Amino acid sequence: MYPFIFRHIIMFPLLFRQIITRTCKMATKTSGTTGMLGSYNSNSLPQREIIESSTSLMKNAMKNLNIRPGRCPVLIADFGSSHGSNSMHAMKTIISYIQEFKKTDQQFLSVHIDLPTNNWTSFFDTSNEQDKKIFFSLATGQSFYKQCLPPNCLTVGYSSGSIHWLSQKPCNITNHCISTFAKGAELQAFQKQARDDYRNFLENRSRELIQGGILILVMNCFNDEGITMTESVYHNLYKCAKSILSPNVELPNYTLPVYIRSYDECVDKELFHQNSFEVIHSNMSAVDFKFYEQLKNNEMELEEFSEKQTEFIRCATDSVLRGVLESTGKRSKQDIDQLSNQFWNLYKEHVKQNPDDFDIKCYQAYVILKKL
Ligand SMILES: C[S@@+](CC[C@H](N)C(=O)[O-])C[C@H]1O[C@@H](n2cnc3c(N)ncnc32)[C@H](O)[C@@H]1O
Ligand SMILES: *[C@@H]1O[C@H](CO)[C@@H](O)[C@H](O)[C@H]1NC(C)=O
Ligand SMILES: *[C@@H]1O[C@H](CO)[C@@H](O)[C@H](O)[C@H]1NC(C)=O
Ligand SMILES: *[C@@H]1O[C@H](CO)[C@@H](O)[C@H](O)[C@H]1NC(C)=O
Ligand SMILES: *[C@@H]1O[C@H](CO)[C@@H](O)[C@H](O)[C@H]1NC(C)=O
Ligand SMILES: *[C@@H]1O[C@H](CO)[C@@H](O)[C@H](O)[C@H]1NC(C)=O
Repeated sequence: MYPFIFRHIIMFPLLFRQIITRTCKMATKTSGTTGMLGSYNSNSLPQREIIESSTSLMKNAMKNLNIRPGRCPVLIADFGSSHGSNSMHAMKTIISYIQEFKKTDQQFLSVHIDLPTNNWTSFFDTSNEQDKKIFFSLATGQSFYKQCLPPNCLTVGYSSGSIHWLSQKPCNITNHCISTFAKGAELQAFQKQARDDYRNFLENRSRELIQGGILILVMNCFNDEGITMTESVYHNLYKCAKSILSPNVELPNYTLPVYIRSYDECVDKELFHQNSFEVIHSNMSAVDFKFYEQLKNNEMELEEFSEKQTEFIRCATDSVLRGVLESTGKRSKQDIDQLSNQFWNLYKEHVKQNPDDFDIKCYQAYVILKKL
């Protein structure tokens, strides 16, 4: 039975590539993100640090897992898998802990969920390099705010650095590009969108998980003083936007579909209860991006520091910038490429002039939930 299933799974990526190219055009019309651009795998060290910071939690969570013995593979999933290398790393860590604590010889199947507009070519290049002796993987291109798997089949769900991306921006923000600095009704609209999205996320994960299954969430958050520790990044983005975008149409529209939650919004006991989740563990900590330390220890030149600081945020947010530049319909592809380069050169120059503003950390909320 296994060889039959797995032969189909191996072929699936090829088939999927064709499906993806056809659905991409339709999906770009939303006001959510369209994913990470450029070489995300080699410019996502900060995101990798965040995953690493959750390793001891994964270990504890796997001790708490009730595993269903059987002939089918154990299903695990990563929600927001991007171009794959961090995602594969997280899944391998989870598998190694399940094997350590549950002494199982069951096979593993990991499902990687990201938007249809994710760079799946890059993802499959990564997933095809993985050792099939450890696990097989499949991908699905759809929003994780929807149901992505059949009910009652998922053993472990994981998500890191992803659910601050909302399904859509509920409004534009006046005088900034991120809801962290929004006020009044604009702030409220983002808070509501974030809660509605979180509810959909939890409802659907709750359906997918088996009883006793575990959901591990690592989410950007702000601390008790309202600080995310990445403020300088957001201010620099807005500063560049003001220099590059047209002031009346493009600038107001340059609003990231992002909401960084408070710790209490991340650890929303009411939503957990409503969706049959028990909180096994929750905590908050600031994850250091390391680049600044390397600069100060002379392990990195200022040029490389500015480059690295720019590339990770470029990969993460260039799609939003391009979306805005494309939407007026008046700019050619060439103009857009040029303006995007100009934007990121400005960003880099500002980092170079003010390196001490870029001693960046990033507050994370860690939540481990068990499906009752
Ligand atoms: C910053 S990346 C993090 C990727 C990976 N987890 C890591 O830690 O490196 C966030 C990912 O979430 C994906 N994403 C955002 N909104 C999504 C949605 N509604 N459904 C599925 N994926 C989404 C983006 O496309 C992107 O690949
Ligand atoms: C996707 O990634 C591949 C390499 O990983 C790259 O060659 C290609 O240009 C990327 N596609 C887009 C649309 O960015
Ligand atoms: C899953 O997400 C969708 C939104 O895509 C939502 O309408 C639905 O209520 C959610 N929950 C379940 C149990 O399907
Ligand atoms: C944002 O602003 C643009 C104009 O720049 C407007 O057309 C668009 O509808 C606004 N988006 C939202 C979600 O309010
Ligand atoms: C919570 O996080 C802090 C800071 O990162 C850490 O020192 C502490 O051990 C964590 N608490 C638990 C119970 O894991
Ligand atoms: C605003 O930007 C979005 C992409 O983020 C785009 O779909 C929309 O058409 C833009 N609206 C205007 C009026 O430029």
